[in-house]
Amino acid sequence: MKIGVFCSGGDAPGMNACVRAVVRTALSMGHQVVGIRRGYQGLLEEQFHLNPAGEPLMTLRCVSDWVAHGGAFLYSSRSAEFRQVEGQKKAAAILQRAGIDALIPIGGEGTFQGAMALSQHWNGQIVCCPGTIDNDLLGTDYTIGFSTAVQTAVDAVDKVRDTAHSHDRMFLIEVMGRHSGYIAVYTAIASGAEMAVIPETPTDYQLIVDQLHVLKQRGKNSIMIIVAEGDEKGGAEILNENLRELDCPFDSRVVVLGHLQRGGTPTPEDRRRASQMGYGAVLALDRGETRVMSGTQNDELVSVPLPETYASHRPIPPQLLDMMQRLAS
Ligand code: F6P
Repeated sequence: MKIGVFCSGGDAPGMNACVRAVVRTALSMGHQVVGIRRGYQGLLEEQFHLNPAGEPLMTLRCVSDWVAHGGAFLYSSRSAEFRQVEGQKKAAAILQRAGIDALIPIGGEGTFQGAMALSQHWNGQIVCCPGTIDNDLLGTDYTIGFSTAVQTAVDAVDKVRDTAHSHDRMFLIEVMGRHSGYIAVYTAIASGAEMAVIPETPTDYQLIVDQLHVLKQRGKNSIMIIVAEGDEKGGAEILNENLRELDCPFDSRVVVLGHLQRGGTPTPEDRRRASQMGYGAVLALDRGETRVMSGTQNDELVSVPLPETYASHRPIPPQLLDMMQRLAS
């Protein structure tokens, strides 16, 4: 079988480890792998990764050391052209012409929806791997890049806490998560932040200010509020403006971490899980599966029908939120 592999959407630390696992597993089973550059857009432009001999087939050595590096060596993109039916038909014709039998797209919700759309026009097999720092897909307990993003955010919060202490200040630190509070909640718990403001729970400005007064009375002199960019009322700047208009008891500053969270050396957890999911994707193709995600549940590999993975956003366990609140008092 000739397998095409690509990264699509926002890059995530660990994507390279996933591609490496796909290549090494597939070659060990007698399959071939074509690396497609720049996701769906690169496919439309027939951008293939060339091996040292100048051929569009990946060899064992093509992915040497990829396990340890962030970013996406196959590059990534968000493609407007592929969102159109014409683009999807064109991609199907290119896959046909290149003799590709199966695809492993690595990405998030948009990538998976694209895979389903492509499958309307192309009858090759498709098994996706969950690659997004947001950790917001259903059917898998983990998405590639989440651990590194949280590590980066926690490092930043620890540093900001030092200056917050020195000046008796409050900081609102905005983390990524387009529709999800996962990065915010994990970062808040791991850094001992006082609050997380997330899209999964209603944001009430007066309630936050009331809580801040309680914390001040209890002797807190610095406050860290972790804000998910996707909060229903907006990001950290908007929250800060609104808290200032009320009777906020702390002098405040805003830090937006942004794309810092998408880069960097993948943590061992991201490397391991990305390897597991890439390996699982090839095994699933070999079993004849299609239109599924190769994810994990309780650390075991699972195949989940693609539409089930983006039917809604992965909820955050209420117990985690309860714990966060009690520990931050
Ligand atoms: O989906 C991953 C993500 O990093 C989100 O957290 C964020 O909202 C988005 O991508 C940013 O996308 P872009 O890099 O295209 O601005």
